[in-house]
Amino acid sequence: MIKSKMFRWIEVNSYEQMSEIAAAIFTEQLAKKPDSVLGLATGGSPLGFYKEMVRRHQAGELSFARAVTFNLDEYVGKGPGDATSYHEFMHQNLFRHIDLPETARHLPNGLAEDLAAECERYEKLIEASGGIDLQLLGIGVNGHIGFNEPGSRFDSRTRVIELTEATRKSNARFFEKEEDIPAKAITMGIGTIMSARKIVLLAFGDNKTEAVKRLENGAVTEEFPASILRKHPHVTVIYGK
Ligand code: PGA
Repeated sequence: MIKSKMFRWIEVNSYEQMSEIAAAIFTEQLAKKPDSVLGLATGGSPLGFYKEMVRRHQAGELSFARAVTFNLDEYVGKGPGDATSYHEFMHQNLFRHIDLPETARHLPNGLAEDLAAECERYEKLIEASGGIDLQLLGIGVNGHIGFNEPGSRFDSRTRVIELTEATRKSNARFFEKEEDIPAKAITMGIGTIMSARKIVLLAFGDNKTEAVKRLENGAVTEEFPASILRKHPHVTVIYGK
């Protein structure tokens, strides 16, 4: 594997600053290539980023009219209209506010009858789009990216994965009852993520400090999935606490 050609670390003082820098990177991407294929993420980390992208769109500073998006993941058993689905997260926080055509918004279908076929369909769709130009990522406290939990193969592609207890606990805040937290998700694989031409990873808060340290200095190992990013040719990590 080649050594990373561009690994940029940007330390910020606030969550807002992290969101603004990420929005500036995505705005520049869309300015340079209006028909960019964007990889999107859910969770607490990108919320401020989406808010800023919506603000910029409403101020006439950027358009998604020719863009295509692919989200990293979706819970198995969840889909549009379900308040805790990632479909709904994206609809509420980004899609309903911008000019991205409905047909250009893609998330894995967690309601598919044949989940294996759905994973294959999603992976092929990404490939057919020409591949992801710029992928947004968060990082789990256990180093997961997307829902690729520790032990995920570095060459994995979109597939169904069982969520670890650590991940279910981290995500408990989005659910009313613990038993409502899904046990499985469809996620892009590590190989899928690594195929993106550029990556931006957001990590803010005390609870992410250890993960950021390990990303920077730890071993490249499948036990800490994000560590593979050190082999990617173009990564920007925006972090702070
Ligand atoms: P968070 O999750 O953005 O909600 O902290 C990130 C992740 O678990 O990947």
